[in-house]
Amino acid sequence: MKARSRRWLVTTAVSAALLGCVTTPEGGGGYARSSALPAPPEPADNPTTPAKAALGKQLFFDARLSGDGSMACQGCHYRHLGWTDGLPLSRKVGGGMNTRHTPSVYNTGYYTSWYWDGRAKTLEGQVTAAWKAQIGADPARAAAVIAAVPGYQAEFQQVFGAPPNADNIAQALAAFLRTLNSGEAPWDRYQAGDQTAVSGDAVAGYELFVGKAGCAACHKPPLYSDSLFHNIGLEAGKASPDPGRFTVTKEARDMGAFKTPSLRSVSISGPYFHDGSVSSLEAAVRYMAAGGKADANKSGLLTDRRLSDREVGQLVAFLATLTSHERFAPPRLP
Ligand code: HEC
Ligand code: HEC
Repeated sequence: MKARSRRWLVTTAVSAALLGCVTTPEGGGGYARSSALPAPPEPADNPTTPAKAALGKQLFFDARLSGDGSMACQGCHYRHLGWTDGLPLSRKVGGGMNTRHTPSVYNTGYYTSWYWDGRAKTLEGQVTAAWKAQIGADPARAAAVIAAVPGYQAEFQQVFGAPPNADNIAQALAAFLRTLNSGEAPWDRYQAGDQTAVSGDAVAGYELFVGKAGCAACHKPPLYSDSLFHNIGLEAGKASPDPGRFTVTKEARDMGAFKTPSLRSVSISGPYFHDGSVSSLEAAVRYMAAGGKADANKSGLLTDRRLSDREVGQLVAFLATLTSHERFAPPRLP
């Protein structure tokens, strides 16, 4: 397994090099990175730098970015909740309800498409969409509000050589998101050789995860996601089922399919699934291990693994060791 993780790391580093990417030494927008995950790839026109990530961190926490000044990005993505909000579904600025659960933005830079259905092809595009849809902003007008703050003027000059605008604000936010990497978990320490970092149950849980329970077929280490879309049966029997990935591709096989979430820091980011329908991690694991609800389009990789209660408990114990404890301090806003 270690060899496999290493191969993934190498592949990522190599593709990053091929794309001409610069890796950042910073994590969380301001601290030295000592993570089990390498810096994620980044687009050639938006390299991550410590100053840009720090600027994006301020913007992520700043309610002045929203249409009415009432809500920041972190209003639904709280760090202590694994960058989610603990709610099944969240209310947007303006009062509308989301129809899908707020996902974690930990490790979001490693995906190849964004949102539960992958409709955003770039992280910068995703950020702009969230800026409008979630916090009700007209980006050009919100950029003018940001541009009126002297501290921001100076920072944007330093980072972009230009005043704040809709594009560079989205770039700074995306750069910050690329530093949110939860790679400092007890399991990472265990894999790096610290035998005391996790319990025997967690080790047994990992063996099940990559073996008999079949979880790693989709939740591939070290990200614990394959960045792909699968139907796991959650929409079966609903009055108006969410078509999920089908909305994007119009392919019948994508009906009811959603992106595989990373399971890093999953124990602090409940409730679970794209509809936020399951509140405990144990119940979510039980659902997956039992093969999910019957659905004509359900992935063949998800079957009833006939696990005992003890084995379910071991899987939960393993997943709990994926919670990262990297340093993070909220920003000071200008
Ligand atoms: C009102 C709650 C709310 C606020 C505020 C909010 N988001 Fe989100 N965020 C969501 C929901 C819900 C989704 C998933 C929507 C979907 O998949 O259709 C999401 C998805 C995301 C994703 C995609 C993660 C992935 O793995 O695909 C990113 C990145 C993100 N938000 C960043 C932001 C940024 C940046 C801001 C501020 C501009 C923001 N969010 C503000 C609720 C919110
Ligand atoms: C067929 C691929 C596949 C397999 C196999 C699989 N998963 Fe998943 N898993 C997914 C997808 C896709 C989602 C999100 C689906 C959704 O919300 O509709 C998910 C969601 C989850 C979640 C909720 C995470 C969150 O943040 O909401 C947990 C926990 C989970 N899986 C654990 C497991 C465990 C444990 C196993 C093995 C018993 C497993 N999965 C097997 C694809 C898979």
